[in-house]
Amino acid sequence: IATRVFNSREEGSKYVAKVIASLIREKNKLGKPTVLGLATGSSPLLLYKELIRIHKEEGLSFKNVITFNLDEYYPMDPENKHSYYRFMYDNLFSHLDINPANVFIPDGTVAEENLDEYCADYENKIRSFGGIDIQVLGIGRSGHIGFNEPGSLVTDETRLVQLNSITIEDAANGFGGEENVPRYALSMGIKTILQAKKIFLLGWGEAKSEVIKQAVEGEETTQVPASFLQRHSDVLFVLDRPAASRLS
Ligand code: F6R
Repeated sequence: IATRVFNSREEGSKYVAKVIASLIREKNKLGKPTVLGLATGSSPLLLYKELIRIHKEEGLSFKNVITFNLDEYYPMDPENKHSYYRFMYDNLFSHLDINPANVFIPDGTVAEENLDEYCADYENKIRSFGGIDIQVLGIGRSGHIGFNEPGSLVTDETRLVQLNSITIEDAANGFGGEENVPRYALSMGIKTILQAKKIFLLGWGEAKSEVIKQAVEGEETTQVPASFLQRHSDVLFVLDRPAASRLS
């Protein structure tokens, strides 16, 4: 796994924003859509801020951009303030000229009996647009990417998953206590993620340094799902110094 260490998360985020913006510009010129895979959480916040700036100040249009989010809590109403749907509109989509019909986020309101079909459809939809051009990831202290917790397989596609105790602990603050954190989520699988043409994983801060070391330098193992990224030929871990501090 290639890594690149930046002086700050601002610098790292701006670098990724630049790569994304130039792909969109290039594809816009050709009249082709750009397909982005997106994450929520704190890691991509400055990236989204920079994309909004580029849209507003440099006039980059997102009209031809298609987005697929990695995950959503389950069950979860899109209007709930904790939903990843809200997160994405508040932190990105509401500030762009993106067409809401081009925004795909796993739907936390689908009835349980329809989930298999819904998840298969999500995969088909990604394929129907020719696959994801650039996938943005964060990493959880559990080793997850998306909500692919330890035990996830490299063959997993979009499906219902159970959240790990570390993940629940890390989400507790936002939800006002562990007991309020949903136990399940819908998440793209490792297989879905590995099918993206290009992957950026954003890792900031000392708290992520141990799991980043395991993912980059450890054995490929289901105990650290992010280690499966070692199989991808175009993945870059974009890190600040504290996050990279344990790398040899
Ligand atoms: C969110 C997601 C998760 C987060 C990870 C890190 O859509 O898929 O894998 O990227 O939990 O979260 P933060 O960035 O909040 O540290």
